[in-house]
Amino acid sequence: MTPASVAEIPVETPLRSSIFDAENPGFKKDFDELPFEFKHCFHADHPMFQLPRIRQILDHDVLKHHAYYDHGPIVIDQRWEKLPERKLTSKEVFDNIDVASGWMMLRHLEKDPEYNELLQQSLDEVKRLTGRKIDEDKKSQEAIIFFTSPNRITAYHIDRECNLLMQVRGNKQMNIFDRNDRDVTPETELETFWSKDNNAGLYKPQFQDRAFVFEMKPGTGVHIPVNSPHWLKTPDNVSISFSISYQYKDTRRKHVYQANYYLRKMGLNPTPPGKSPMLDNIKRSAMSAGFAGKNFIKKLKGGKAS
Ligand SMILES: [Fe+2]
Repeated sequence: MTPASVAEIPVETPLRSSIFDAENPGFKKDFDELPFEFKHCFHADHPMFQLPRIRQILDHDVLKHHAYYDHGPIVIDQRWEKLPERKLTSKEVFDNIDVASGWMMLRHLEKDPEYNELLQQSLDEVKRLTGRKIDEDKKSQEAIIFFTSPNRITAYHIDRECNLLMQVRGNKQMNIFDRNDRDVTPETELETFWSKDNNAGLYKPQFQDRAFVFEMKPGTGVHIPVNSPHWLKTPDNVSISFSISYQYKDTRRKHVYQANYYLRKMGLNPTPPGKSPMLDNIKRSAMSAGFAGKNFIKKLKGGKAS
């Protein structure tokens, strides 16, 4: 389906959408479980994705402080503390994106009413297409523009957000791994990620052939479930992507992984989340009540289960 044909879906179709391809089964079947590709209507000629409009973000009193960027050679398994030293300003990278080997992440665009409208319209449609109670489930939502130089890698990482990444300009290759593959992502990495280190995911080239690989182009998007590790490669073109995402209100996942992190440090082999609702509830209650570290560990260690 082309973006133009999305708008041609008859009005009486129950799942009519003006942004996404409403008949895509992934929204119902795989949402926040497995990655899937979808079509969307955003493109580089859209008023909000033209370069002068995007550049205004770097002058915005609030948004300029949420504009993250780096430049220089990056590898798939890049450690964030070893990023190349920045020698250019954000505007220099923006204005020279075709040669800067740069990557810009323009965050919290929901603070701009015009970008927020795109975010809200998109999430409203995701809500209808998935049937999920997103308004009840989410604690926050975010819109981001990624602006990337040709031949750039975005390093392997895990995100806390439930994400839809939409390609607006240029091509980009997305590599996503199944979040339930414990060869790719052992429990220990998830425990460390949710406890103290956003960079805890470690790329394992021996499992690259297990990746879901999506060749993104303008008009296509990819859904990235929470906890699904991914990395990206931009070929020989400038890339603009638009991301909409939300974080869950439910702290179960975070608190169970945090509890397991502490338990493992005490030499135990904790039960992964989802295996025992009773243990998950105990861990969540304990962590959310502030029983962190030794006090919490003593409490659970006193019992048989972990
Ligand atoms: Fe990501």
